[in-house]
Amino acid sequence: MKILALLLLVSGVALAQAPAVQAPTLKPVGTVDDLMISFIWPASDEVFYITTRDLPKTEEEWLHFRGRMLMLAESANLLMMPGRAWDNDQWMKDALRLRDAGTAAYVAAKAKDVDKIAALSDQMYAACVGCHNDYRPNYRKRPLTPEPLP
Ligand code: HEC
Repeated sequence: MKILALLLLVSGVALAQAPAVQAPTLKPVGTVDDLMISFIWPASDEVFYITTRDLPKTEEEWLHFRGRMLMLAESANLLMMPGRAWDNDQWMKDALRLRDAGTAAYVAAKAKDVDKIAALSDQMYAACVGCHNDYRPNYRKRPLTPEPLP
C-alpha cells in the first residue's frame, strides 16, 4: 500500500513535469465554397448595397452589422488556413486583399461611417474578382474594377 502511494506520488510528479499541452491542429469544417456561400457573399453584399438597403439604426443593429464585417475580414484568415488554402503563393496574396478590404469595412462599421463603407465597394469587388480570376473554376474573367456605365 505504501509502495503504491509512493508510486502514485512519483508518477504525479512526473506528470506535472510533462511538456505543455500541444495546441490542437487547425481543421477546416466547411469548404471554400461553403465559406463563400454562407458568409463571404452575403456579408460583402451588405457593403456593395449599403446605400440601397435599410441602414442599421439601433445600437443592436450596428453591433450585428459590425460583427458581419468582422466575419468578412476574418474569413480571409480562414481562406489562408492550412488545409483550406489552395496554394501557398498567389492564393495568399488574393486572400490578403480580402482581409484588407474586410478590415477597412470593419473599422468603418465601428465608426458607423456609411459613406466610408460605400466607398470601399470597388476595393471589395476587386478582392473578390482578383481571386476568382485566378482560381474559381469556369469563371468568366472580369476586370478588377467595374466597367464604368456608358
Ligand atoms: C482567396 C480566394 C477567393 C476570394 C478572395 C474570394 N473568393 Fe469566392 N470563390 C473562390 C473559389 C476558389 C471559389 C470556387 C470554389 C469551388 O468551386 O470549390 C469561389 C466561389 C465563390 C462563389 C460561388 C459559390 C457557389 O457555389 O455558387 C461565390 C458566390 C463567391 N465565391 C463569392 C465571393 C465574394 C462575394 C468574394 C469577395 C467578397 C469572394 N468570393 C472572394 C475563391 C475566392
